[in-house]
Amino acid sequence: MADSVSRRTFVKIGAAMGVAGAALFKAGQHAWRAIAAPGAADVAANVIEKHPLTLNVNGQAHPLQVEDRRTLMLALREDLNLTGTKRGCNVGQCGACTVLLDGEPVYSCMMLARDAEGRQVATIEGIAGADGALHPLQQAWVDKMASQCGHCSPGMIMSAVALLHENPKPTEADVKQALGGNLCRCGNYPKEVEAVLAAAAGNVPKPETPLVGGRARTLDAVNKCTGTAHYTCDVRLPEGMLHTKVLRSPVAHASVSGVDFSRVNRLAGVKATLNWDEVPNYASDRRFLNGKARYVGDGICAVAAEDIYTAQHALELIELDLEQHDPVFDAERVLRQGSAVLVHRGGEVAGFVGPQARDKNTIQFARGEIEKALKEGDFVVEGRYVTQLQCHVPIEPHCVVAKWEGEKLTLWNSEQSPHNCAHVMEKVLKLPEGSVRVIATHIGGGFGGKCTDSPGKTLYQGIAAMLAKKAGRPVRLEYTNKELMFAEDTRNPMHFEMRVGVKKDGRITGIDCRAVQPTGGYASSGPPVCAVAGEGVMNTYRADALRYTAYAVYTNTPVGGELRGFGHPQAVFALETHMDKVADLLNLDPLEFRLQQHLRDGDKLLTVEGEASEIRNSGLRECLERGAAAINWRAKWQHPSKKTGRLRRGLGVRMSQEHSGRDMSNGVIAVRPDGRVVVPIGYGNLGTQSHSGIAFIVADALGFTREQMDTMIEFRWADSGTTAWDFVADASRGIHCQGKAFQNAALDLKQKLADAAAKMTGASAAAFTVRSGRVVGAGRNLSFADVVAKAPRGIQSAPAFNPAQDVNKILNEETGQVVQPEPKLHPHTVKLIEREFSDCLIGSGFYAYNPAAKGWGAGFAEVEVDMESGRYRVLHLVMAHDVGKIIHLDGVEAQIHGGGIFGLGYGTMEELQVDPHSGVPVNPALQWYRPVTMLDYPPITPVIVEKPDPAGPLGAKGMGENPVFNAAPAVANAIYNAAGVRIDEIPLTWVRVNDALRKAGRLM
Ligand code: FES
Ligand code: FES
Repeated sequence: MADSVSRRTFVKIGAAMGVAGAALFKAGQHAWRAIAAPGAADVAANVIEKHPLTLNVNGQAHPLQVEDRRTLMLALREDLNLTGTKRGCNVGQCGACTVLLDGEPVYSCMMLARDAEGRQVATIEGIAGADGALHPLQQAWVDKMASQCGHCSPGMIMSAVALLHENPKPTEADVKQALGGNLCRCGNYPKEVEAVLAAAAGNVPKPETPLVGGRARTLDAVNKCTGTAHYTCDVRLPEGMLHTKVLRSPVAHASVSGVDFSRVNRLAGVKATLNWDEVPNYASDRRFLNGKARYVGDGICAVAAEDIYTAQHALELIELDLEQHDPVFDAERVLRQGSAVLVHRGGEVAGFVGPQARDKNTIQFARGEIEKALKEGDFVVEGRYVTQLQCHVPIEPHCVVAKWEGEKLTLWNSEQSPHNCAHVMEKVLKLPEGSVRVIATHIGGGFGGKCTDSPGKTLYQGIAAMLAKKAGRPVRLEYTNKELMFAEDTRNPMHFEMRVGVKKDGRITGIDCRAVQPTGGYASSGPPVCAVAGEGVMNTYRADALRYTAYAVYTNTPVGGELRGFGHPQAVFALETHMDKVADLLNLDPLEFRLQQHLRDGDKLLTVEGEASEIRNSGLRECLERGAAAINWRAKWQHPSKKTGRLRRGLGVRMSQEHSGRDMSNGVIAVRPDGRVVVPIGYGNLGTQSHSGIAFIVADALGFTREQMDTMIEFRWADSGTTAWDFVADASRGIHCQGKAFQNAALDLKQKLADAAAKMTGASAAAFTVRSGRVVGAGRNLSFADVVAKAPRGIQSAPAFNPAQDVNKILNEETGQVVQPEPKLHPHTVKLIEREFSDCLIGSGFYAYNPAAKGWGAGFAEVEVDMESGRYRVLHLVMAHDVGKIIHLDGVEAQIHGGGIFGLGYGTMEELQVDPHSGVPVNPALQWYRPVTMLDYPPITPVIVEKPDPAGPLGAKGMGENPVFNAAPAVANAIYNAAGVRIDEIPLTWVRVNDALRKAGRLM
């Protein structure tokens, strides 16, 4: 990795706020019992006297009364409602809370408010010009699309303001150094650096750009860089809200034999408690609080109190008795021998519909006779590959605000999938359909970790909802950084055993893969992750026979689930490292081997839908060729045996396919009687800019300009109460799936406008075109309002779709069954139209994912390895991706950069290490876990290939995840090419490289 690892030294850290660290548990032989914190026998409220204080913020004096322990961040956010200063880690490790103190950047979460008295505080709200014009840095952030989710943007901009004040003409290195303490988990660093340099150079007005394929301004770009984008933790209710804390298991496997709240109930300020046995029974192996702890961090009970300090103090007063069981950590051993104590009754293996015996796999794909095919090879190459546990760590922690009005529940929620979340919350709380509304207008990154698509993933929302009901008041639950890292899902570690049969000429006779996934204490998305990993193994190379067998094994470790790529990053590392070995055995250039053996148009896919779809319009070959040219492969590549010297350079390559989504989407466009257009996008706004891409597809189809989009169209998104139903925001499905449903809706609307105009005028519908809010043709120029006045309103027809492409069998992940959906609007969409748009002309569309629509990618890495130490640097990453059709160029580049950087962390740096004897995560803090910072990433060259797929909107394919798969195998293969040693386990740390060199006798 890059050797410049210093970070966060630029801030002047004020008085650090201590966090009570009272030990909660003492060990017995097999029992654990909570003990009270010292001095907690008196259960008086944890109240600290408030003192007067005046804060000078953005040139204004604000008199306040605050407790001495109040941090500057909380004073700004909670007392002054300046929520543009974001709360991320809350412990001085992410930079989201950066403000200026007398012109110097500081982490406001690490300063007490009282220490800012008498000094000048500047926040993101104070940097715009007096006339409201954006600060040049904010303008550059908009122009360069420097925000993805935007949760890091205010803090990063404040760091940049300080930099430009001191150094008006910084170099790229200066920018990276100055912003090195601001983490961007979306990995938008290249565009953030570009924005700072553009602001320093004097912003050049942005040239006009087409809506589709260009760099149009995204829908919420201005909100994100001015601090006016409101995330869940920024929600303020006039009636105020209670604060919640969750008591979690300190041990990996135990039954709860007693919970005593008596002292908590006497603590002033506590308004409600919730025990695991109050949680309703529902069909899942995991409840939002559990009476049997199955991993360290499993939630057991919770408290809501007037303030966060009291809620925290209350946890220390809960008396908890646990009966400890032998923990299960070794998945392979469980498969071989079983375990004395089961993690779940019913079996050791997580299946799609619950626990099952260890002799039954979670999923198997097969085609042809694998053993026979392997025998037909001249060689059978075997290998074992190990991947680690990765955390999502979005900069915005999970947060929810729950509020009841009668039997109706509203959740403001950092949630990728508002519609499905509302649906599963109704299910687990046993509420009638339509009772729950989920609002998630902005979320600060998700990466799959905020995707509530099954009852087992309703954890923080369920707790907040039940406490709000019990207390009769709204409740907020905001995770700590530690909870963010492992209280909910992570990326499953996996082990792969590969056997590949191959002829001397490179033809592959068979690919056999056995995968074992320690899925943690609960299944979560473990079974579908196993399945999708199988797609990753089976669908890149031509082979006579295939077999993939996977087991998701229950273990008492953090729960694995969906994380950007959903099984692919693990599988692609294993497959592509293995295929490099195959090429090497045959003495072939690894690029040429892939060019010969990759799947191509007309070959059959093997997917979770069980369909043998044919590949069509694959851009894989072009990705390989253009990526190779960008890294200068053919001039530079040499066999490792030819490398000499202490510092050796090497090249690595990898390739993959990826789905463009899953399940179904609805699209709706309403034209109001006054001619105004409403586009209610149900997709979650997790930072990918899919909502903007969908908006551009619609606006382009209806002939609006970017400026007209601001004034003539009302865009809504990510609110289950006001938008068209969509399944979830994951699986790279935003543009492809919901974009297609909305494109269908736009075409439907155009036809209906033309039909109505034809009826009004007596001309044929074909004579009319739709443009800029008008219907023009046959010598008439009609406004939308004119036409709607004469058109039928509300739902008049089934949603539009292309019968040849848009209605396909889908996998029902609750049952594991493949089903044929009906092409009709979801009942929620129907109700939305009836409730809000019954007086409107409606265009509607439908799409059920077409598994033939694959995105393709190839990644290349160049590294330099120090043969004396095993230290290495990644010098260059080239990422070539077939996106079908560019909908938004900035968005595509940002996904390649961001996915590539996320994958670089996965491949080379990140691992949540779990103690193998206790199951306790040992590095649950950002400074020990180490996501990629601005100082860590190498030059990245995106190569964009366009091979349109007929199912996609204008041909677009999914591409949000494929870039994540690049770095781990490409860097591993490049290390081999440089140093002649294979590393079959990620992350590819220097220690591992050193070990491999030493074992091979190659360490100099
Ligand atoms: S550094 Fe303050 S919120 Fe992360
Ligand atoms: S845009 Fe930086 S964290 Fe999302």
